[in-house]
Amino acid sequence: MTIAQLEPLPLQHLRRGKVREVYVVDDARLLLVATDRVSAFDVVMMEPIPYKGAVLTQITSWWLRQLEADVRHHMISANVDEIIREVPTLAAHRAALCGRSMLCRRTEVVPIECVVRGYISGSAWKEYSAAGTLAGEPLPPGLQESDRLDPPIFSPATKAAAGHDENISIATMATLVGPSTTMELERLSRHIYERGRDVAAMRGIIIADTKFEFGHDRDGNILLIDEVLTPDSSRFWPADRYRPGRAQPSFDKQPLRDYLDAERRAGRWNGEAPPPTLPAEVVRATSERYLDAFRRITGSALDLSELT
Ligand SMILES: Nc1ncnc2c1ncn2[C@@H]1O[C@H](COP(=O)(O)OP(=O)(O)OP(=O)(O)O)[C@@H](O)[C@H]1O
Ligand SMILES: [Mg+2]
Repeated sequence: MTIAQLEPLPLQHLRRGKVREVYVVDDARLLLVATDRVSAFDVVMMEPIPYKGAVLTQITSWWLRQLEADVRHHMISANVDEIIREVPTLAAHRAALCGRSMLCRRTEVVPIECVVRGYISGSAWKEYSAAGTLAGEPLPPGLQESDRLDPPIFSPATKAAAGHDENISIATMATLVGPSTTMELERLSRHIYERGRDVAAMRGIIIADTKFEFGHDRDGNILLIDEVLTPDSSRFWPADRYRPGRAQPSFDKQPLRDYLDAERRAGRWNGEAPPPTLPAEVVRATSERYLDAFRRITGSALDLSELT
C-alpha cells in the first residue's frame, strides 16, 4: 500500500509534517508514521514513492539499534505487531502502519536542530563562499564546495515554525538551552554522525551532513528522538561520483530533481506548489534509490513481503 494520505487512526493527531504524521498514544508515548510523500525544492510531490515511508522508519530503527550502547533514544518499537500489542486499537490499521510506524517515548523537544557537517554544502557553503564564515564563525580559508571537513562541524540551527531554519552559533545555542545541554548535545551529535559517516562510507554512501533532534524525558534524561541518519534528515551522496568543487548529486532524490529542473527550464513549472505530475519512471527510479539506500546502510534488503 502506497500512502500519501494516511487513513484516520483512533488516536489524537498532533502534527502533520511534510512527510510524517505524529499521533498521541498517551502522556508518555507518540506514534510517528512516515508516509510515502516526497518533497523536493521544499515542495511536496503529489505522487507517493513506493516503500519510502518504510525505508525511512526502518533506517532510523536500524541506526537506533546500532547506537543502543551509546545514546538513550525514543524508540519503543518499529515492529507493527509489537506496536499493536502495546496499542491494541491500532489492530484494524495494521496494513497501513506496517513498516512505516514507530512507537516512541514522548519527550519535551529541545528546540534546536543539531546539525553536523562533515562536508561543506547547502546553506553552509552559501554563507562560507560569501563571507568565509559559518553562523558568523570563521572557517579555514580556501575550502571548495563539497570539501570534506575534518573534524566535522557542529552547526546548530533554530527550529523555525515557518520557513527556513536559521544557523546559530554554539554560544547562541548555550544562551537558549543552557551550557550543559549544549555541550552534551554537541558531544552526542558528533559521536553519532561520525559513526554514521564511517559505516555509510564503507558502503558507498557519503553522509555529507545530518540533523538530529533531542528531547528530555520526565526523569530529565536526554533522548535522541525523531528520525536518525535517513536520506530525509541528511544529505546522502553517491561516493563514486564525489568531486569536490561543485554541488554533488543526491543519492536518493537526483532523478526527481533532474526531472523538476528540466520542467522548470522548459517553463512548465514555476518552482512552487502545485508541482508537476511525475512520470511513472521517475517515481520508480526514486523508490529504487530509497530501497538501495536501505540495502547499503543496513547490509540487507528491506523485507517487502508485508508492505504490499
Ligand atoms: N520522541 C519525541 N517526542 C516528542 N516529539 C517528537 C519525538 N520524536 C519526534 N518528535 C517531533 O515530531 C515531529 C515530526 O514532525 P515533522 O514536522 O518534523 O515531520 P516531517 O515529516 O519530518 O516534516 P518536515 O519535513 O517539515 O520536517 C517533529 O516536530 C519532532 O520534533
Ligand atoms: Mg522533520
